[in-house]
Amino acid sequence: MERFGKPLPPGSGTLVAFARHPLHPMLVTFPIAFLLGVLGTDLAFWYTGDAFWARVSLWLVGAGAFMGILAGIAGTVELLWVTEIRRRPASWNHFVLAVALLATAVINWVMRLADPVGSIMPTGLYLSALGAVLVGAAGWLGGKLVFEHQIAVDKGEDHDTDPLDLADDSSR
Ligand code: HEM
Repeated sequence: MERFGKPLPPGSGTLVAFARHPLHPMLVTFPIAFLLGVLGTDLAFWYTGDAFWARVSLWLVGAGAFMGILAGIAGTVELLWVTEIRRRPASWNHFVLAVALLATAVINWVMRLADPVGSIMPTGLYLSALGAVLVGAAGWLGGKLVFEHQIAVDKGEDHDTDPLDLADDSSR
């Protein structure tokens, strides 16, 4: 019982990785860029009235939802299978906001399919603004997992000497 009162020590391994680099941080760059970008293209449509921006918005929000779901699958596997991640409340806070973000993105995409131009004002624009706020909040909490809790951070203890590290002259 005593362990419940103790803060967990920082650090965890990673399960979903390529050459020891966790995949989730590589994948999240896409939904972050696409789902922030759709707010910009919706605003461009509002300002210009040009249907070009409505079509760009449709593709951005669809691609953002798709890549976000891929990133979410990688993150969820880490969350459920790595004990040090699963036992942290901060991980679950990030998960809840991320799922809210993905749900918003999917709704924003589906409701545009039938009428990409007519669905922007005002519902599409509101959903894109909500998505941008959720990207900021979920991304902030994800950053806390890495930079404060040191989730999936390789401490480098079992690395060979880095040949490019000029401060290390043991190899010369
Ligand atoms: C839906 C389920 C999700 C889960 C369970 C999840 C879980 C995690 C975990 C465990 C980490 C720590 C790093 C790692 O283990 O790879 C992390 C980091 C992060 N996540 Fe998520 N995540 C999810 C979705 C998202 C989405 C949709 C975004 C996009 C906004 C996002 C943005 C981030 C960011 C920015 C980081 C920090 C990456 C870094 O600075 O290296 N996550 N997430």
